[in-house]
Amino acid sequence: MNVYIYPDAQTLAVAAAALLAGAVIEKPDAVLGLATGSTPVPTYRELARLNKAGAVSFAKARTFNLDEYAGLAPDHPQSYRRFMNEQLFDHIDIDPANTHVPSGFAGDAEAADYDVQIAAAGGVDVQLLGIGHDGHIGFNEPDDTFSRTTHRVELTDITRQANARFFDSVDEVPTHAVTMGIGTIMQAKRILMIATGRDKAETVRAMLRGPVSPRMPASVLALHRDVTVMLDAEAASLR
Ligand code: PGA
Repeated sequence: MNVYIYPDAQTLAVAAAALLAGAVIEKPDAVLGLATGSTPVPTYRELARLNKAGAVSFAKARTFNLDEYAGLAPDHPQSYRRFMNEQLFDHIDIDPANTHVPSGFAGDAEAADYDVQIAAAGGVDVQLLGIGHDGHIGFNEPDDTFSRTTHRVELTDITRQANARFFDSVDEVPTHAVTMGIGTIMQAKRILMIATGRDKAETVRAMLRGPVSPRMPASVLALHRDVTVMLDAEAASLR
């Protein structure tokens, strides 16, 4: 694992966007694994800026997002499909047909088919990840075992509380989601984790110091051969 520390979240965003854009410059039809949440928003803004400046084109790129809330239609204001359109896809030259977000209505078979689609695209070249306060990646919450393929999960109270800020109240946060499995994520050729803010410092410390355990899902990244972790000074403060 290569860990890089930046003075602030905006500098980190420039570095993260440079890494992602670089992958697409080198391989125009690269497959990017993308994440939602607050952390990647400045990175997406920077990618849009690079695209507008003509520094990188996403015309041939393909994307697969980590997860979606169960029961939310793609056009629901809080759906992750809508989030991705508004935060990134509407601002770059990507073909919408090449962008993939799991269906929030997927049963087990359709969810597992997401992994088949990723494999058919040649696998994820770079997977962008945030980290939840409980150590989740995608919506893989602390558990007794590491999950394998894309599947339906129940969200923890911590996660629902953390995401309530996007909804009118915590009661409106869906109780379930569909997420890539830990196995899906670990198959990406390269992983870029980004974490910012003091509230992530303890989780980052637990992830980096181990032990590898499904109780701290992000700890599994220690077993991947090509992981870049980008932290701002606050998220790195307890490291
Ligand atoms: P956040 O979410 O970027 O909004 O903190 C991260 C996550 O839950 O993976």
